[in-house]
Amino acid sequence: MIQMTKEQYYELIHPYSDAVSLILARLEVLNHQASEQEEVRPIHGISSRIKDKTSIEQKLKKKRAGTSPDDAKTTLHDIAGVRVICFFERDIRHLVCCLKKQSDLIVIKEKDYINTPKPNGYRSYHLILGVPIYYMEGMEYYPVEIQFRTISMDFWAAMEHRICYKNQPFNEMEMRSAFRQYSEIFEKMEKSFEVYSENGQ
Ligand code: GTP
Ligand code: MG
Repeated sequence: MIQMTKEQYYELIHPYSDAVSLILARLEVLNHQASEQEEVRPIHGISSRIKDKTSIEQKLKKKRAGTSPDDAKTTLHDIAGVRVICFFERDIRHLVCCLKKQSDLIVIKEKDYINTPKPNGYRSYHLILGVPIYYMEGMEYYPVEIQFRTISMDFWAAMEHRICYKNQPFNEMEMRSAFRQYSEIFEKMEKSFEVYSENGQ
């Protein structure tokens, strides 16, 4: 199969990097606006990534799509990714609501794995936003996949990715059942912290 050249890859990702920068700036503003005090701001940490060339090609292959830059653009919604780690679920709801109100951004897709976790216990709020990128002539929306998680959702997801990715057949059932249970335990723990924090404010 013909692959993208390095030059084509860099040309492809350029507007996606610009879209990520714009989203990061918007999130920074929302985080500062929430409070003057650093201790009560909603965001614990943010990371972002642009999918590398090999991952793009592998995913296109998996989806049985072509591997040209245009195929990547039309098939993939997660070339640009941002992960926002919050303290509480209410912080996530608030940030999502604020971003959705920003009239230049469009909602492409939304998945609430917090209210409805995946069967394996995965919890997170996924929002794919279309970010307008202006050229000398015209404008185009570029998708950015934003994953909102609390600290415990992120801890769970990182461990699950690490451990279940290469699952050992001899204890797979036990391991999967443990992950489902921990997901519920973390949820309970988080809810109680959320109540303590409301009482303290
Ligand atoms: P992908 O093809 O993986 O992008 O899945 P999708 O198009 O069905 O979208 P979905 O919103 O379900 O998942 C997008 C991303 O969320 C993944 O690429 C992972 O980063 C994360 N994710 C989804 N499910 C899981 C899970 O079960 N465990 C972990 N650790 N991460 C997950
Ligand atoms: Mg993905």
